[in-house]
Amino acid sequence: MARLVHELGSLDRARLVTHFAHLGAEDRRLRFGLAVSTEFLADYVGGIDFTRDHVFGIFGDAFELIAVAHMGRSGDVAELGLSVLEPYRREGLAKRLYVRARQRATALGRRALWIHFVSENHAMARFTRELGMEVKMSQGEADAHLALPDASPLQRGLDLYQCQIDGLLGTWRGLLAPVDGQAA
Ligand SMILES: CC(C)(COP(=O)(O)OP(=O)(O)OC[C@H]1O[C@@H](n2cnc3c(N)ncnc32)[C@H](O)[C@@H]1OP(=O)(O)O)[C@@H](O)C(=O)NCCC(=O)NCCS
Repeated sequence: MARLVHELGSLDRARLVTHFAHLGAEDRRLRFGLAVSTEFLADYVGGIDFTRDHVFGIFGDAFELIAVAHMGRSGDVAELGLSVLEPYRREGLAKRLYVRARQRATALGRRALWIHFVSENHAMARFTRELGMEVKMSQGEADAHLALPDASPLQRGLDLYQCQIDGLLGTWRGLLAPVDGQAA
């Protein structure tokens, strides 16, 4: 089955908490840089400002989130965090989320994409290098950077089109598979 990348919104908060809660302890540490509790995850998701940040997800067959990319903003730099549930790894899902986030960041006029991870995260070291990012490691931490070009009119148009599709799919998702207390 084709797995589409969707831009998520506030109606997806409960699904996001469930996604992060399904990461094992070590994966949570790799994703957030420290051991985090389920309460932390709920606070983290509750604190996402969907008017400033962009969150992309890939759904499984029961509308559960199997892969998530959270793109925040620090000045003109887009910061990306990625997570894919263990049974769905090495299928290229993180790479597809990365490509979508890079497209969005370029269309938004961000000058660079940045991913921070612990340097022992060998999967991310390989992932970022293979995607052409410049990786610097220091004192157990790693930073991967990619300079972003100016968006062409075609890139902006494609991104706008994708955003409109995402808006429609988000409404449809809310109607078809509402999460408790969050029906549209
Ligand atoms: C890192 C992570 C996001 C990768 O997700 P994924 O969907 O399995 O990654 P992809 O399938 O898109 O992999 C793309 C490339 O990254 C590299 N890669 C991914 N996982 C790897 C692993 N376990 N070991 C070595 N290389 C790996 C490979 O080069 C891979 O290409 P290939 O499969 O053709 O060899 C996932 O393992 C994860 O969620 N880990 C826990 C959280 C985390 O570490 N987040 C990153 C910190 S922000």
